[in-house]
Amino acid sequence: GAAELGPYRHYMQKEIFEQPKAIADTLDGVAGISPELFGDGAYRIFKEIDRVLILACGTSYYAGSTARYWLESIAGIPTTVEIASEYRYRDSVPDPRTLVVTITQSGETADTLAALKHARSLGMQHTLTICNVSTSAMVRECALAFITRAGVEIGVASTKAFTTQLVGLYLLTLALAQVRGKLDDEREAAELKALRHLPLALQAVLALEPQVMSWSEEFARKENALFLGRGLHYPIALEGALKLKEISYIHAEAYPAGELKHGPLALVTEQMPVVTIAPNDTLLEKLKSNMQEVRARGGQLYAFADGDTRIDSEPGVHVIRMPEHYGALSPILHVVPLQLLAYHTACARGTDVDKPRNLAKSVTVE
Ligand code: G6P
Repeated sequence: GAAELGPYRHYMQKEIFEQPKAIADTLDGVAGISPELFGDGAYRIFKEIDRVLILACGTSYYAGSTARYWLESIAGIPTTVEIASEYRYRDSVPDPRTLVVTITQSGETADTLAALKHARSLGMQHTLTICNVSTSAMVRECALAFITRAGVEIGVASTKAFTTQLVGLYLLTLALAQVRGKLDDEREAAELKALRHLPLALQAVLALEPQVMSWSEEFARKENALFLGRGLHYPIALEGALKLKEISYIHAEAYPAGELKHGPLALVTEQMPVVTIAPNDTLLEKLKSNMQEVRARGGQLYAFADGDTRIDSEPGVHVIRMPEHYGALSPILHVVPLQLLAYHTACARGTDVDKPRNLAKSVTVE
C-alpha cells in the first residue's frame, strides 16, 4: 500500500533506490573471498571444474552475460551463457567438468529449473545457483548457492535483483580466481574495498535522477530506441533496452556498437534516439567512432559518459556525466540510469509500471 511506498510513486522506483542497501546487505557477512561463500564443499567442486555454463531467463540472463566477461578475464575460465528455454531443448555436448550456474531472482522459473535438470541428466552434477529466495525450488535443487539479499522485489521489471546478482557473480568470479591461484591477498583486499564502496558510488548515480527525468519526456514521444554498448557493457545495453520495452512499450533494441554498420545503422534517422553507454575503458576510442557514425546520419545520441571520456554535449549529443569510473564493476553503476530512464519514460507515457501488460513477475509455467 501507499505507506510502504513512502516517497515513491511505484515499487519499481522504490526498488531502484533500494539498490545501495540491497548490495550492502548482500555483502554483509562477506568477510573475505572464499569458495565457502557458496556453501560447504564448494572448494572441492571449484577444483574439479574447468568451465562454466550459465543458464537463466530475462534480466537474470543479462546478469549472466555480464558475468561471462568477468569469469573469462579475471578467473580465466571458459564460460558460456545460455537462455534456459533454448538450452533445455537443444542437443548439446555435455562436459562433466562444468560448473552449471543458474541465475534466478525467484528460484521458481520453470524453464531455468528444467534447464538445470536437463544439464544434470546429461551428467553435469556440479550445480550452483545465484538466487534471491533461500526457500525456493532452485536452491533446493542445486548443490551450491549464493543468496542475494535484495529483499522482496515487487515490480515486474527487475532492478535490485539484477544488481545484487551481479555482486554474487563477481564474488563467484573472485572465488574461482582464488582457487586457480589468480587472486593474491593484495588483489583480494582491493576487490573487497571496491565492492564495499559500491553502495556509496550508487548513491551518487541515483542523484542523477533529475537529469535522467529531463530526457524522459523526449523518449516518451518515440516509438523506437537503440541502445549501444561494447564489451562488458553490451549486456547492460541489452538490459537497458529490455527495461524500456517492458514498461514503456517502446520498441527498443540493443547492439554491440561495433556491429552498428552491419545493420542497425540503416535505421538511424533524426527520429532515432541512440542511448550510448560510454565508460572510460579500453574500448572508448572505438566507441567514439561508433558515435560519429550515428551523428553522421542525424541520429540523436544520449550518452551516459564517465568523467575523462571527453564526450561533451553538442547539437545532437546529450550527455549525462557518470560520477566515477568503476573498472570491472562499472556495469553495476551504468545500469542504474538506464533503469531510471525506462521508469520515467514509462511514467511519462502513463503505463502501469509495476504491472506491465502481458508480463508476470515469475514465469512458473512453460
Ligand atoms: C520474468 C520477469 C523478469 C525476470 C525473468 C526471470 O520475465 O518479469 O523480471 O528477469 O522472469 O525471472 P527469475 O526469477 O528466474 O530471475
